[in-house]
Amino acid sequence: MQQYILAFDQGTTSSRSIVFDHHGKIVGQSQQEFRQILPTPGHVEHDPEDIWRTQIETAKAAIAAAQIGIEQIIAIGVTNQRETTLLWDRATGKPVANAIVWQSRISTPICHQLSHDGHGALIREKSGLVVDPYFSGTKIRYLLDSDPALRRRAEAGELCFGTVDSFLLWRLTGGRLHVTDVTNASRTMLMNIHTLEWDPELLEILDVPAAILPEIRSCSEVYGMTDVSILGRRIPIAGIAGDQQAATFGQTCFDVGSAKNTYGTGAFMLMNVGHQPVASENNLLTTVGWKVGNQTTYCLEGSVFVAGAVVQWLRDGLGVIETSSDIEPLAHSVPDNGGVYFVPAFVGLGAPYWDPRARGTILGLTRGTTAGHIARAAVESMAFQTRDLVEAMQRDAGVKLAQLQVDGGAAVNDELMQFQADLLGTKVRRPQVFETTALGAAYLAGLAVGYWDDFDSLKRNWQLDREFDASADEGQIEKMYGQWLRAVGRSRDWAQE
Ligand code: G3P
Repeated sequence: MQQYILAFDQGTTSSRSIVFDHHGKIVGQSQQEFRQILPTPGHVEHDPEDIWRTQIETAKAAIAAAQIGIEQIIAIGVTNQRETTLLWDRATGKPVANAIVWQSRISTPICHQLSHDGHGALIREKSGLVVDPYFSGTKIRYLLDSDPALRRRAEAGELCFGTVDSFLLWRLTGGRLHVTDVTNASRTMLMNIHTLEWDPELLEILDVPAAILPEIRSCSEVYGMTDVSILGRRIPIAGIAGDQQAATFGQTCFDVGSAKNTYGTGAFMLMNVGHQPVASENNLLTTVGWKVGNQTTYCLEGSVFVAGAVVQWLRDGLGVIETSSDIEPLAHSVPDNGGVYFVPAFVGLGAPYWDPRARGTILGLTRGTTAGHIARAAVESMAFQTRDLVEAMQRDAGVKLAQLQVDGGAAVNDELMQFQADLLGTKVRRPQVFETTALGAAYLAGLAVGYWDDFDSLKRNWQLDREFDASADEGQIEKMYGQWLRAVGRSRDWAQE
């Protein structure tokens, strides 16, 4: 009987499930978009029940698509949108609030207070993160501060906090497990990245009661079994990692200095820096890459908040395209951007700017500007933001990046990948399987149950689809990048609290 690994990839705009075989090839998959709740500008929520429902429905559909029996799934790996903050009732498993999504700027005033009180350096040193509403800690604080009854219940141990991985594991095991993994914990601003434990000083600064926190585990071990009621059979859950770390693992960036960029809702570049955390001097984050066995690997990360989400906005907000795939022909309808630059700072700017008050900006409009130019500028913004990250990464590393491995939805766009290579002056390499996020979660689970033996066998699964080499005129490219930087300058410090 052939055996397979099932990966849950719970992302920001969709849940997906993928069945992988021993070669790391996809044999069945399913995806469902779900509702984005936008109560006020800059605030984003999800209904935790939508997250749960779509994840389980896609799991069943992926197994059906693979045309296999549930008994052929030997382990499940879980990967997830990171930082998104959930609170639920320990007794009933019912969420007590909507999930506050990583993109939400709702805790901006708390962050200002933390910086004003001089906590920035300590937070950075211990958690590897900058003070920004992006991370879970200030989101928990916001929820508990906004309702005294919730705080009382949290302190009494009646509530559980979790990132999406924790919530899924809680539900999958019928409320038997309250755990997370080191990578997700490293995005809360509450874990000390040196000790890999919740840090009492950070908990105190952020006023978060320890009673709500999950247990921190490695990324590859059998945490527990799914409840039989979920998929009709008990299956070991054996891998957990935040989606960007999972993608780095799925891209087999196991060597120090290797890096990947994922073009998803946001864009996230991670570079393996080895077994010790390295502090960034250029506004990148230090984060846990993975912990397998007793060995921890660290990464430097550049996080861009809006990449593929700009396409969703053109579709749902502006209505200039009907489906996401219409973006390519529209962007292609013009020979160049016509001088239009689009900074999609819808929820502020992440790395390397960290400006929660920046807002989306389109510059260079003329009477001749068409929807095509705006679409093109939107696509180009993904490449420009990635260049911002690469510049910071190269300054931190002191060397030029030799190549960049890419994945995520927008990596299918050949023109974008070519422009990316031109803009970076670096090889851009796309693997055949670019669902590397789910693949990474499958690898972590598969290693734990002996489906794969070691890192080398995973590396052998990595197959090149296409390599893009820089070929454009450098002077012209640098001129465009200069314009981009000017546009970023214009987008900054706009929103009023
Ligand atoms: O840190 C946020 C990130 O984990 C979200 O990933 O793929 O949903 O954009 P994605």
